[in-house]
Amino acid sequence: MFKHKTIYILIIGGLLLFLSACNSNSKVVVEDEPEDTVIDNEEKPEEQPVEVEEKFVLPTEELQKGDKGEDVQTLQEGLIKIGYQISNSGTYSAETVWAVTDLQLQSEKLLVTGIYDKKTRLTIESYLDKDKTITPGEGLPFKKDEKLDEETVIISNPYEILALINKQNALPKDFKPSDLVVPDVRFPFVEDLPKKQMRKVAADALEKLFAAADLESLDLFAQSGFRSYERQDYLFASYVSNHGEQEANTFSAKPGESEHQSGLTMDVTSPHVNYGLVVEFGDTEEGIWLKEHAAEYGFIIRYPEGKEDITLYQYEPWHLRYVGVKAATEIMERGITLEEYLEELSN
Ligand code: DAL
Ligand code: ZN
Repeated sequence: MFKHKTIYILIIGGLLLFLSACNSNSKVVVEDEPEDTVIDNEEKPEEQPVEVEEKFVLPTEELQKGDKGEDVQTLQEGLIKIGYQISNSGTYSAETVWAVTDLQLQSEKLLVTGIYDKKTRLTIESYLDKDKTITPGEGLPFKKDEKLDEETVIISNPYEILALINKQNALPKDFKPSDLVVPDVRFPFVEDLPKKQMRKVAADALEKLFAAADLESLDLFAQSGFRSYERQDYLFASYVSNHGEQEANTFSAKPGESEHQSGLTMDVTSPHVNYGLVVEFGDTEEGIWLKEHAAEYGFIIRYPEGKEDITLYQYEPWHLRYVGVKAATEIMERGITLEEYLEELSN
């Protein structure tokens, strides 16, 4: 009996000890609660605002010369952050085109266009992420257009795909694009001549255009692309000696004034006109298809029929000029010239 009593006492004692321990544990928890749960109106410390830095986000839309608005301003701020001393006016100015072109020329993987596109955005982002700055002008030194004479200016950015090259706007005499390649398309000759070349951005697009024409069983041939200042000088002089300067200048450009020097142009033809560069090419299946589809690949018929008073050259259905899909689509759909398109952009 006595033994049993002792066991009961021990069990009850143990239970009491256990309960008191639980109670004291819960006290510890309460004491451990953070101080700021204590309401004390007199000594409340002033709340410090937590500074959350807003992440700088570059626009995702493609932007080009003449565009205006917040996206352009954000792009300009991004360019300023990586080292370009340009204005953040919100207008995609000549200065903005220069900065984008210069950046593209300094980045091997980028096509050089002067247009802000996805890959250009990713490149600027990588500069920002790594806190890297650029050396402005290392790709393309900054210049303003200079006057050559009363009628003509020398354009300062020959690399932009929206460059206007005509009788009033000439390329620098020493300009030879640094990114010339031979497009993988058909030529009616086998020699490895400089005229097979185009700038990489235009060559890539020409290959796509030819591939699409092939699917339609068309017989397109590339006849003449890049031409140096010196080659144009030679050709123009020989046309002048045969036709006189005034007539020659209706179908051939003076040196510096030819788009062929830009590397953005290819004259194309077909066996149906004996590989010639003749007006009849415009009425061949190939010529008709080009009028309808060249813009899908970023090309325009640069000297259209009926616009001779603006371009100051005769109709050339064979002369394709690369300007990018956006500009080409608008120019070809509206039946306007590059001169008219760019004039509207600048207003
Ligand atoms: N035939 C064009 C106008 C040129 O010579 O560039
Ligand atoms: Zn041409």
